Amino acid sequence: MLQSKLPKVGTTIFTVMSKMAQDYDAINLSQGFPDFDCPQRLRELVSEHLNGRKNQYPPMAGIPELRQQIATKVKHYYACDADPETEITVTSGATEALFDAVQAVVAAGDEVIVFDPAYDSYEPAVQIAGGHTIHVPLSLPDYGMDWDRLAQAINSHTRLIIINSPHNPCGSVLTNADLDALATLIRGKNILILSDEVYEHMVYDGLQHSSVLAHAELREKSFAVFSFGKTYHATGWKLAYCVAPKELSEEFRKIHQFVTFTTSSFVQYAIADFMAECPQHTLELSSFYQEKRNTFCEMIKSSRLKFTPSKGTYFQLVDYSEISDKTDVEFVNYITQEKGVAAIPLAPFYETPPATKVVRFCFCKDDGTLQKAADILCSL
Ligand SMILES: Cc1ncc(COP(=O)(O)O)c(C=O)c1O
Repeated sequence: MLQSKLPKVGTTIFTVMSKMAQDYDAINLSQGFPDFDCPQRLRELVSEHLNGRKNQYPPMAGIPELRQQIATKVKHYYACDADPETEITVTSGATEALFDAVQAVVAAGDEVIVFDPAYDSYEPAVQIAGGHTIHVPLSLPDYGMDWDRLAQAINSHTRLIIINSPHNPCGSVLTNADLDALATLIRGKNILILSDEVYEHMVYDGLQHSSVLAHAELREKSFAVFSFGKTYHATGWKLAYCVAPKELSEEFRKIHQFVTFTTSSFVQYAIADFMAECPQHTLELSSFYQEKRNTFCEMIKSSRLKFTPSKGTYFQLVDYSEISDKTDVEFVNYITQEKGVAAIPLAPFYETPPATKVVRFCFCKDDGTLQKAADILCSL
């Protein structure tokens, strides 16, 4: 009889809700994929390299041209000197990078701290490594860090702490002061950080993204994970990277080479060229998405949903307690199936879901789609 290694894991809520949206012909504001295509120049470069015979195995850690561009980028944004030879690894999506980092450093019996609501790929990766996940809830109502609870959760078994900023699903962001507090808590301990920063270029209202790469002390203890899928509206390409000190990258690559070995060649060449040619794309992304967030928030202003505009990511949390007593899972099922708009509930991202009535909408959609969804939400 087969014994499941992940007995509690079902199909991810993103796939479940996207399928429900399709089955019920609902507007899909659930799963986070943009309506807009990636930049035209980038698409041209992809076909140039595809037709230019860049179709064989690229190097295991990623093509040197792309790693060099990543090094230039992290220097520019985070004043971080990362050696492209030894500290930067290109992966098949951030999902792979997160998985590799966990497998590289977590052993049987180790504890890994995650903050609930936590992105749903973290815990299964820890379980496969034989570790235990310790869930520390973010504090309500603003989904900030609860430093006392984190301090209580740390012990001699703690091996890794997984942070995520800008945060999916909450849209909250960590500040430099947060990173300082984290560094203080783990100082002198054998604890590493896995920092999921896939929404690094979506931060609003004049805030800056605080990366572990810009924090001298955390940089030495961290795997920092980024995704080209988010940045270039190309989630289907599954291209991402991890920046980590040499010693950590060495272990990371041991896993990476036997999970995927490498990732598609022509897309790597295209992104390397595009990063060199069009650095303004990343500079403009926050204002592009801030506009989208503002548009969506304005559209649902007259609804009975309560919300604080998201500080980052392309997600907006809303409180529906004035509309319904249903649980969040019941509520998203109801609005998807009976009202025609799909959202994501928060319960699946918690070990112990709170009694809050909050769901997540994704606003990386055309204005027309957002308007149709908002009209429905305003009628609830
Ligand atoms: C917080 C977070 N981390 C990681 C990922 C995975 O990124 P990728 O598509 O590059 O695997 C996502 C995708 O939605 C995400 O929201």
